[in-house]
Amino acid sequence: MSVLIVGAGAIGQWLGALLHESAGESVTLLARPRQLPDLAHLPMRSVSQLEAEARFDDVIFTVKAFQVEEAALQVAEAGLHLKRIWGFQNGMGSDEVLASRFPGLWFGAMTTTIPVYIENGRPQPGPRGGLAWATKHERFLAPGWLLRLGLPMTAVGRVDSLKCSKLLLNVTCNSSCALLDMLPVEVVHHGPMFSFELACLREFLAVVKANRIPFADLPNYKVTQMAALAYLPNIAIRSLLGSKITKARGQKPPSLLVDLRAGRPQSEVEVLNGAVVRLGEKSGIPTPGNRWLLENMRAVVADNSLWPRYRGQIDEVARQALQALKTK
Ligand SMILES: NC(=O)c1ccc[n+]([C@@H]2O[C@H](COP(=O)([O-])OP(=O)(O)OC[C@H]3O[C@@H](n4cnc5c(N)ncnc54)[C@H](OP(=O)(O)O)[C@@H]3O)[C@@H](O)[C@H]2O)c1
Repeated sequence: MSVLIVGAGAIGQWLGALLHESAGESVTLLARPRQLPDLAHLPMRSVSQLEAEARFDDVIFTVKAFQVEEAALQVAEAGLHLKRIWGFQNGMGSDEVLASRFPGLWFGAMTTTIPVYIENGRPQPGPRGGLAWATKHERFLAPGWLLRLGLPMTAVGRVDSLKCSKLLLNVTCNSSCALLDMLPVEVVHHGPMFSFELACLREFLAVVKANRIPFADLPNYKVTQMAALAYLPNIAIRSLLGSKITKARGQKPPSLLVDLRAGRPQSEVEVLNGAVVRLGEKSGIPTPGNRWLLENMRAVVADNSLWPRYRGQIDEVARQALQALKTK
């Protein structure tokens, strides 16, 4: 089978290598022109332009959520012959964009619980985790390579379950770390700031419940047990979740911080905390904490000169954030 991967970043390069080396697929990476020299050593084909009428069984979009619209248009306009479309984005919203851009095609959502970073120009996967996927279409039409990637693989019953379960792993200590330019371990150990994080987590769990979206376990993560933490008092969650976050990603800058440091003019906060706010609006549940994170991140992403107001100012940021919880 032939697979087109759109976006040769951390996930695109890592997944492309797995598909080629472990699953034996013919892989083409659609990259930015500036990336082509650095990708020349790979055993897969890298291109920056699509040949009209080319055939691919699967197209996997591994661009950031805010790049999906443009990348999908680029693929749609190339007049390719395609069977299946996949979205790999964290958060919620990109799947709808992809599915509507390619109506009639089988659509699947996929994610990984393995953190992948580019270090020294190469994708570096973390040591633990696996892949998970879901589709609204017929499961038996999924490709055979899913079972040949050589990683733990979970098929989740619903796309929204997959997305919310992954969001549960991503949403805590992400935006606040980005605003503060601090690591998760520092937020976990700051009493007021982590209290705010827990309030945001409770908002998220409440809106998922109100929207009747079931959580699903993902490779290496008992998400359903984590979701049940909401029923415990803060003091218990603080130690259980705090130590989990510290162990799993305490010393790694979260994705939103990486993007802010890189000066990207857009951010996936819209599909992370933004998704919580939208789910809350849908079900009439207030989400002041997530809204505060969304609005403050939006402001800093739009105008980087505002960042010093937050960077390292954990006492003051926590005070303002906790104050925002009182405005319903
Ligand atoms: N990394 C992880 O551990 C991980 C885990 C699970 C899920 N995810 C999700 O996977 C997605 C990708 O993450 P990532 O870490 O791989 O991001 P990334 O490293 O930024 O990779 C995205 C790549 O796509 C390129 N790109 C964007 N639009 C393009 C287009 N139209 N044509 C060709 N190339 C294009 C980008 O180039 P520019 O930089 O020039 O824009 C960049 O090289 C995100 O939504 C993320 O939430 C990531």
